[in-house]
Amino acid sequence: MQFGYFDDEQREYVITRPDTPLPWINYLGCEGFFGIISNTAGGYSFYKDARLRRLTRYRYNNAPLDTGGRYIYLRDDDAGSPNFWSPTWQPTRTPLQGYQCRHGMGYTTIQSTFSGIKAETRYFIPLGANLEIWQLTLANQRPEAVNLSVFATVEFCLWDAMDDATNFQRNYSVGEVEVVDGVIYHKTEYRERRDHFSFFTCSERLAGFDTDREAFLGAYRGWDSPAAVERGALSNSIAHGWQPIGAQHVRLHLEAGEQRSMVFLLGYHENPLDSKFDPPGSQTINKRSLTPIIQRYLQPTEVKSSFDQLHGYWLELLEKFQVHTPDVHTDRMVNTWNVCQLMAAFNFSRSASYFESGIGRGMGFRDSNQDLLGFVHLLPAQARSRILDLAATQLPTGGAYHQYQPLTRRGNNEVGSGFNDDPLWLVLSVAAYIKETGDWGILDEPVVYDNTPGTEEILYEHLERSMQYTLDRLGPHGLPLIGRADWNDCLNLNCFSTSPGQSFQTTTNKDGKVAESVFIAGLYILAARSMIQIASMIAREKSARVYSQAIDQMEQAVGEAGWDGAWFRRAYDDFGEPVGSITCSEGQIFIEPQGICVMAGLGLADGKARQALDSVAERLATPHGIQLHQPGYSHYYLNLGEISSYPPGYKENGSVFCHTNPWIMIAEAMLGNGAMAHDYYLNINPSMREQISEVHRCEPYVYAQMIAGREAPTYGEAKNSWLTGAAAWNYVAITQWILGIRPEFDGLLLDPCIPPEWDGFSVERIFRGKLLHICVHNPQHVSRGVTAVEVDGLKIEGNLVICEPAGDEHQVDVWLGK
Ligand code: GLC
Ligand code: GLC
Repeated sequence: MQFGYFDDEQREYVITRPDTPLPWINYLGCEGFFGIISNTAGGYSFYKDARLRRLTRYRYNNAPLDTGGRYIYLRDDDAGSPNFWSPTWQPTRTPLQGYQCRHGMGYTTIQSTFSGIKAETRYFIPLGANLEIWQLTLANQRPEAVNLSVFATVEFCLWDAMDDATNFQRNYSVGEVEVVDGVIYHKTEYRERRDHFSFFTCSERLAGFDTDREAFLGAYRGWDSPAAVERGALSNSIAHGWQPIGAQHVRLHLEAGEQRSMVFLLGYHENPLDSKFDPPGSQTINKRSLTPIIQRYLQPTEVKSSFDQLHGYWLELLEKFQVHTPDVHTDRMVNTWNVCQLMAAFNFSRSASYFESGIGRGMGFRDSNQDLLGFVHLLPAQARSRILDLAATQLPTGGAYHQYQPLTRRGNNEVGSGFNDDPLWLVLSVAAYIKETGDWGILDEPVVYDNTPGTEEILYEHLERSMQYTLDRLGPHGLPLIGRADWNDCLNLNCFSTSPGQSFQTTTNKDGKVAESVFIAGLYILAARSMIQIASMIAREKSARVYSQAIDQMEQAVGEAGWDGAWFRRAYDDFGEPVGSITCSEGQIFIEPQGICVMAGLGLADGKARQALDSVAERLATPHGIQLHQPGYSHYYLNLGEISSYPPGYKENGSVFCHTNPWIMIAEAMLGNGAMAHDYYLNINPSMREQISEVHRCEPYVYAQMIAGREAPTYGEAKNSWLTGAAAWNYVAITQWILGIRPEFDGLLLDPCIPPEWDGFSVERIFRGKLLHICVHNPQHVSRGVTAVEVDGLKIEGNLVICEPAGDEHQVDVWLGK
């Protein structure tokens, strides 16, 4: 069952009924001002930091779902009651005709008709401005004139979303507003230390306003039935403490067939500390620098041109990689939606979604390095500075803080370090950056450790320390010690926690000298292969030799202690017992080591890779994707930690964790199995799952972190959509390994591994400043095997395109065959 459809031409997802199984959201904003918006106008806005500069309130976990938003009410002033409705359905939930929500790239438009009044609201954030525009267009489709009231509302958050949701004894007394010339200013704490305030205004003359929530809603009423809307008049209330809101009332008369547009602005503004007030010495906000901005964005022409600009910005991003294959799900994810999700991961990491409160986590070290693998070609300059930020939080031991705070760029002490896989991901992201850009200079950038001035070393040395960190921490089998956890945050083999509520990630009751991770061994080898190439390129031959010896040793350790007979083991616990082995009663086989070890090239020569992937197919693959492990843990194991805290089939306890599935796709592609790789790709492809939306429940246009596994009562149900490493890895798997357009250190490698029934496909790819039109021909219907490559009609040796500075555009033809 579907709740909408893809409009591929407009690059929009069109939701055709408001009661989607869960709120289906979109993101607004690309620079400093951001918003989350659901298909019924729920969500919130913030400036840069979703916790510390939250503009509007949102109530997670509420009933009804999705409470708090950018709510507009329409009221028919000529009709008897009930005579008002929400054109975005929430919060009144009045049945509407022609409801449609179009989520597009950086904007959302919601339209509906009620009793002959058609309403369309377009929400977006212009480039270069710290405000959002709500453009409302009303059309009277009745045969007679109508008198309407429009009420536009927001509920202000008192800035720090955490404090706002907890510190009521203070907050009920601090709220302050100012209303001048029809503009509502929210200025809580501006009189003391804040240099910022928010504003809410409109292009039309106001018939009234409210800023006190109770005055607007009425005592004991909700947003679904505001007394002031029912009454048709606001009371010009000024909030003193309690809950400050912004509510604006516009009256209008529409002739039969008449259409009118108006604009509402919600924004954020800062003043220099020495000119906060006007006149100086007063307590009135200085509005001199803001007023021209408001005037500008209230102009319809400006609204139009800034929307066009935003559209252009997105087109430019999307142009970096466009594909045309026989499969619509591949095309629409690669060409539009996967990129949209990559941008969300770039902007928000794991901070603000409908599953992440915006107040919890900083930027994950491993998460950010992996996200970068997806967006590096979209935003190479930002990728570069992200890498340098990450490296600057690295510890002198080579270890990494598990998270850092984006505003301070400092490591987060609360979560600390000791996740022993973390530092290795930096090698992968730096390698990906150089492969994409050819910018070897990044390796010479001086970068501090732990944000401490005076500790600068070049980035290359950071990479060496990352690698050494693993070698300094080997366990009894010569495999890397796991520390607090590896990629699987919940495999806590040194935790042994018996106290409820204790953090599995920061509690360590064992000295950590026994439990080892086969996954980190695989990741180490994968990273070391890049290090060999990097070291050779910059004439550090000795290091290159050291890495190849280390690879040999690690391969040997995996061969001796990491192979279980038909698949790679996952780990060894604190008792030295294997995890992910046929000898275990539960958790016999895990996906992570099968993926990462094969990606690292293990078992390619002796058939173990094939055997491991066959075991995955047999034991872990389901029609809803590949599970993390199997069987799930049915009770809590002290020696395994959080993984066994989840009921079987959920989250890290054996769900389909979408982040890991691409590793198997890549592994299958490496072994030449294009049909299988693409099949795995499709099983979790959101667009492919659109037709089972009643089961999947999350948005059909973005990946979710997990899909409940076979053992879960809600098998097939997705959760935690949007902010997940699944976006980057699925993008890497499909574009670089299945379509096989893969940046390497010395050029762009063309090595597709596709379903054999495809006749071919074509790609436009911007690589190191050149636009390449790549056309892949598959006349013999093979999966893999390049037989010839022509660049501008001239045959080249091999299948690596080196972009010499000759022309800005090239035609590349690739022939597959036996
Ligand atoms: C979450 C975390 C990620 C971790 C994964 C598995 O997605 O953000 O860092 O690797 O869970 O535990
Ligand atoms: C990962 C997991 C989550 C766990 C968290 C702890 O993100 O997905 O289940 O609670 O790590 O930091």
